[in-house]
Amino acid sequence: MKSEVIVLQNIPDQIDFEDMSAINFTALSEFESLRVLDYRNHSTIRKWMHHSKIIDPTEHFRFVARLEDDVHNSYWVVRQRGSHNDLGVIYLNNVTDSNADFGIYVNPYQNARGIGTRLARFELHIAFEILKLDELNLTVFTENQRAIKFYGKLGFVENQNTDGQLQMSLSSKLYFSRQNVA
Ligand SMILES: CC(C)(COP(=O)(O)OP(=O)(O)OC[C@H]1O[C@@H](n2cnc3c(N)ncnc32)[C@H](O)[C@@H]1OP(=O)(O)O)[C@@H](O)C(=O)NCCC(=O)NCCS
Repeated sequence: MKSEVIVLQNIPDQIDFEDMSAINFTALSEFESLRVLDYRNHSTIRKWMHHSKIIDPTEHFRFVARLEDDVHNSYWVVRQRGSHNDLGVIYLNNVTDSNADFGIYVNPYQNARGIGTRLARFELHIAFEILKLDELNLTVFTENQRAIKFYGKLGFVENQNTDGQLQMSLSSKLYFSRQNVA
């Protein structure tokens, strides 16, 4: 039994970490939300998503509205703190009191390297240090070698590999042991 359980709906709309802020999709203005939709619909992002079709604004706003009451799924746009410079999007799906599915994409209009790593560090902080989850899981297309290499560097270990999809996971134990040697 965990001493203090922080659940998704108790997390504030804005979370700060290092030099970044994460803003929940449900707290974005319509304009900001459409900007995020543009990232998600970009060909270099959606081709790696499990639902790879273009999402129209009506569907997007319906999705964001449903997130308001959703205690198992959260999406955040991450910005350079104090600016409108969107670095990318992080999300946790199927959140329980012990695990969640990890999701991430970098703003396709950013071209510096290292942004994914910064976003991921933020998301791991939310998952393991705020929500105190035990494990994160993800499924990635085996063709997405860039992402697989990226997840490997973060400490995710490869599990099952079936039908062109690789399952990977990272335990809190491994996360904290890596923090101690960093
Ligand atoms: C996957 C993703 C989040 C990685 O973010 P990123 O900003 O490109 O990654 P970083 O620059 O922080 O790089 C971290 C590591 O990833 C790997 N990597 C990054 N770019 C790479 C490239 N072009 N080719 C091969 N490996 C690459 C490297 O191991 C790199 O470490 P290094 O710089 O020390 O060599 C980003 O590319 C992305 O949003 N991709 C599209 C969406 C997506 O695929 N999401 C995952 C779906 S499961």
